Amino acid sequence: MNMNELQNAPWVMAKRAKKMNPSVIREILKVTEKPGIISFAGGLPSPKTFPISAFTAACEKVLREDGHAALQYAASEGFITLRELVAAFLPWDVDPAQVLITTGSQQGLDLIAKVLIDEGSRVLVETPTYLGALQAFAPMEPEIVGVASDDEGVDLADLANKAAGARFFYVLPNFQNPTGRTMSEARRAGLSAEAARLGLPLVEDNPYGDLWFDTPPPPPLTARNPEGCVYLGSFSKVLAPGLRLGFMVAPKSLYPKLLQAKQAADLHSPGFNQRMVAEVMKDGFLDRHVPTIPRSTNRSAMPCWARCSSTCLKVWNGTPQRAACLCGCACPRV
Ligand SMILES: Cc1ncc(COP(=O)(O)O)c(C=O)c1O
Repeated sequence: MNMNELQNAPWVMAKRAKKMNPSVIREILKVTEKPGIISFAGGLPSPKTFPISAFTAACEKVLREDGHAALQYAASEGFITLRELVAAFLPWDVDPAQVLITTGSQQGLDLIAKVLIDEGSRVLVETPTYLGALQAFAPMEPEIVGVASDDEGVDLADLANKAAGARFFYVLPNFQNPTGRTMSEARRAGLSAEAARLGLPLVEDNPYGDLWFDTPPPPPLTARNPEGCVYLGSFSKVLAPGLRLGFMVAPKSLYPKLLQAKQAADLHSPGFNQRMVAEVMKDGFLDRHVPTIPRSTNRSAMPCWARCSSTCLKVWNGTPQRAACLCGCACPRV
């Protein structure tokens, strides 16, 4: 629609709609739907890693044993068995009551934006950061402030200079999107202490943390200070993104508002998918399946290795450390 058509139309856009931009990543992904096209730009996990036979069995079992509940409206918090499994899977003491199942971790970012950002609110992000997060935050009209990083992670002095009055710091400590960098243990300890000293809440996004090649990353920031952090996790990279399932772990003071924002957004995430994932996760399936994802990746053949280090990301010059996208590359496909 051109400007003239817009002016003549009866629709008056909200101010926030003007802040919405098309996602570059989603536009690129449209191309991947064409046969024969493999995009290295969209963050696609390798379809070879999707556990189809486990899903087939789980699908049949859920429909046979629990089909009516699976196809009915459900609780906004999520399927309790899945929330318990998520809590048990995470490497710190998590109360299932603090787990909110989301429609992908992308929805978690949207809910955080709605609950925590006013017009002009200062929001700190790493430089560079995940474009999808900026897209989720933008309609709330924050003042986005970039915090510098070095090879070990966030620059704590720069953080302290910029933290005054910030609503939160959005941070990706593991295999950061887009740099691929993992924050060192020492820097995590420093960041956690500095955030506590500054009274700065952290939003920790960790969709890639389980997909390591050589060494598991250090424990999440949230494990160090659960009351000062919201943790975002995803089933997209460890099971399949088509499920559109992720989760948040939120402090008690924040959880009810995030829940209300979710109710308004979509009532609940798909109950059938949640039961399927719970069925698949039972008996430690993820512990067996997740290590096979990096193993199925030919690291030296990862096209993004050359691409990221030479073109997009001067800051990142190492060997690929995770079996998933860097700058959105679909590495495991090769
Ligand atoms: C850093 C980061 N956060 C969140 C997401 C959203 O993941 P999903 O909504 O599929 O869980 C992605 C997707 O690539 C991502 O890279």
